[in-house]
Amino acid sequence: MLNTTDAPAAAMQSGWTPVEEVILNRRSTRAFKKKPIPDWMIRRILEAGRFAPSAGNSQPWRFAVIKSPEILAEMEKDAIKMSKRMMFVLDYTRSRFRNRFLKPVSKFFIRLRHNELHPVPYGLLNAISQDRAPVFHGAPTLILLFEDQRGVSSPATDSGICGQNMILAAHGMGAATCWIGMIKLLMYDPRWKKFFNVKYPYQLNNCIAVGWPKVKSDGKVPREVQLVEWYENSMNDAPRIEKQGE
Ligand SMILES: Cc1cc2nc3c(=O)[nH]c(=O)nc-3n(C[C@H](O)[C@H](O)[C@H](O)COP(=O)(O)O)c2cc1C
Repeated sequence: MLNTTDAPAAAMQSGWTPVEEVILNRRSTRAFKKKPIPDWMIRRILEAGRFAPSAGNSQPWRFAVIKSPEILAEMEKDAIKMSKRMMFVLDYTRSRFRNRFLKPVSKFFIRLRHNELHPVPYGLLNAISQDRAPVFHGAPTLILLFEDQRGVSSPATDSGICGQNMILAAHGMGAATCWIGMIKLLMYDPRWKKFFNVKYPYQLNNCIAVGWPKVKSDGKVPREVQLVEWYENSMNDAPRIEKQGE
């Protein structure tokens, strides 16, 4: 249940709906029990994804379910291997020689892939490469979300909505999930691209780890307070600024 002290007064007048409760209480889980969730649940999660809205109803996605312990172990191993290779190129702080001669090359790559190598994923990549963090968190099931580049308008937006639908459906059924953007590590390896048949028009940018949670998740990850502009009067009036989330 949501901590009622977090709830804005207006919302508490009517109480949270079951959908809002799932949205507000969902947390990323990074420790899963070995036993997978049943196939019927996976199919219902996929159904929630299939029914996601998309621009022009283009449905620019394709799914794959990975349950094979052998394949999961291989994916984890190869993703870690790739993280080590990447950090070998990127980490110019490791020696004076690298700092002197490789810094511009590393910085070039970091600028080129500025989203993927933003300090947050870069930190995770570094931890994975040093065996301090897993990639797929030992989840017994992964749902791969392939993005069809031929989609109308913005396939990335559609895929995000589709994935979130699946995540919320899973949480509504008591399962736990974690988005795994780090699956992209495998896409630098031609063997995995071939294995999952990832070629134009498809890209694989995300997957969803799903299973039973091993531990009860911590409290909510804090969110920024948003300053929302409310336009309620004439064209000449400045919007009223309201703090959302306090
Ligand atoms: C597109 C996307 C990719 C993500 N990739 C990873 C990942 O590779 N590994 C991971 O542990 N968490 C990943 N996360 C989870 C975020 O770190 C998490 O959602 C965020 O810290 C907020 O925490 P919460 O989900 O518990 O509310 C990802 C989340 C999103 C939306």
